[in-house]
Amino acid sequence: MTAPGDPSGNGPSAPMNEEPPPVAPGSGVVARPLGEGGPSQIEPAPAEVGSGSRPDRAPHLDPSGRPVVVQEQAGERAIVTRAQRRRARRAEMNRRQFMKASFWGGMGFGLTGALAAFLSFFWPRGVQGFGGKIPVSASLVPDEGEDPVRVTTGKFWLAHLERGAGTHGGFGFEGEAGLLALWWKCPHLGCTVPWRGDFNFEGVTGWFRCPCHGSTYTRSGVRVFGPAPRPMDTMEVTVNPDGSLSVDTGVIRKGDQDNPQRTVPYA
Ligand code: FES
Repeated sequence: MTAPGDPSGNGPSAPMNEEPPPVAPGSGVVARPLGEGGPSQIEPAPAEVGSGSRPDRAPHLDPSGRPVVVQEQAGERAIVTRAQRRRARRAEMNRRQFMKASFWGGMGFGLTGALAAFLSFFWPRGVQGFGGKIPVSASLVPDEGEDPVRVTTGKFWLAHLERGAGTHGGFGFEGEAGLLALWWKCPHLGCTVPWRGDFNFEGVTGWFRCPCHGSTYTRSGVRVFGPAPRPMDTMEVTVNPDGSLSVDTGVIRKGDQDNPQRTVPYA
């Protein structure tokens, strides 16, 4: 006779109604038989919907009671504490700050180098000829009151004025005796102004006279006639101990009524 509930019909081999081991009520587990004749397996009891039962501990706490976060990445789940997550965030921020600092530091370094190279390329150094310092030997320096000397390499006239010279008809302020370097470029439209030792104007002989529009200047470059807007420009003169000069054609000062007062003493 086949035992009731035996699908094989092979007769009774084990009692089908064997009771699972007892579990304590309210322990949250249920006992379930594994199969015929096998031992029972104890599994967590499924949560009862609407039963009002609560898990033994909160899911966001680890066994020691510290808060945890479940992270899922690339299909794998990991449980980390909030402190670990904070540390990870801080490390990530430090890494980003380092990357930013590296980027901007590199940019600044590169731009500074490019600017330095640009300035180095275009900065005038060792300029020779006009724009630099022009040496004038002592033998070329005119005596006081003599006609100005033309220095072609520096594009200037070298005048040696007597005390109070270089003014005329209320133009110019009287100054001391000394040397004056006058840029030969006319302040009107830029023509080269020659010295005209034989030119007479208002009873005086010897003037700078522009051939283009007739602007006329005293031997100190003060304009007394013509369309030029101002006296001739002056350059910086340095007297060396041996009597030679150095005229800096890169240091040009706009001409004005005080031209006669810009003289450099020369013994
Ligand atoms: Fe000298 Fe015009 S350019 S007066």
